[in-house]
Amino acid sequence: MSKKISKIAVMTSGGDAPGMNAAVRSVVRTCAYHNISCLGIYRGYEGMIEGAFIELDARSVRGIINKGGTFLKSARCARFRTPEGRALAHKQLVKEGVDALVVIGGDGSFTGALHFNLEFNFPVIGIPGTIDNDISGTDRTLGYDTALNTAVEAIDKIRDTAHSHDRLFFVEVMGRDVGHIALNAGVGAGAEEILIPEEDMGIERLVESLERSKKSGKSSSIVVVAEGDKIGKSVFELKDYVDENLDEYDVRVSVLGHMQRGGSPTCYDRVLASRMGVKAVESLLAGESNFMVGSIHDKMELTPLKEAIKGKSKINKELIRVSEIMTT
Ligand code: F6P
Repeated sequence: MSKKISKIAVMTSGGDAPGMNAAVRSVVRTCAYHNISCLGIYRGYEGMIEGAFIELDARSVRGIINKGGTFLKSARCARFRTPEGRALAHKQLVKEGVDALVVIGGDGSFTGALHFNLEFNFPVIGIPGTIDNDISGTDRTLGYDTALNTAVEAIDKIRDTAHSHDRLFFVEVMGRDVGHIALNAGVGAGAEEILIPEEDMGIERLVESLERSKKSGKSSSIVVVAEGDKIGKSVFELKDYVDENLDEYDVRVSVLGHMQRGGSPTCYDRVLASRMGVKAVESLLAGESNFMVGSIHDKMELTPLKEAIKGKSKINKELIRVSEIMTT
């Protein structure tokens, strides 16, 4: 029989995402609701190794549901990838009387959590927090919706100046290996082309499409490029190629970068974070471990961490077709 849980630790790990604060708040308040203690860990696994902890009660997470970033701070930790680092971290948690762990992060953070569980039989549950939406077992990760809205707002502004000067803009959005932000923000902002790693359009087809665009009477254009797109080495190389091959375009580049990771979370992300926090704590209390909490068809579900890490979320093919029709 699994040990009774009376203290849960929570941390944020990997790249931050809007909604992480709301998720910590939910974990803390769910612990308080069930009369168990909650310990915050600063700077992810790094803080776990160093013993950088803070006792959290329902009142200590007031006023943070609307805040971007994570007050617990976040880090990517090389030491936790070693058995020695994990042993140190385990010692710290045992010293504090922690019985279970909630990890809010992406696939790297979940891999660490799985190792930790296998080595010390320590109960862990993951909450998917990353703007990339690249984790399977949930329709949306925390922070993705906010990042999409930030990207669309920025592209709308770029369109104003693109239109005034009859320019072509390549706008790079985040997404290390996946094109979810690019595809959705591209459709939402009415981009002429969207380049994502899942579909290799090829640079010649891009040039042809831009030529067609010009002939059809468009004076300015927006091409949204996912950071992980495979055409060209970078968005700047794409610009150089188009500069050399399409005289009729005056080209500029805008890399949105880390602004997509900040800002106040949308209502969607706040609600998702609140639901995920409740599900994570109540799953641990029910004796579950090694699962990730996710929202599938708007229901809170558990997916084995192993599967969540392995299976990348799939790009929406129907949306690719919609984007093609919209650029007619
Ligand atoms: O995984 C989230 C993400 O924002 C990616 O889209 C991006 O490639 C990466 O993190 C950037 O990481 P860092 O903040 O370490 O530069």
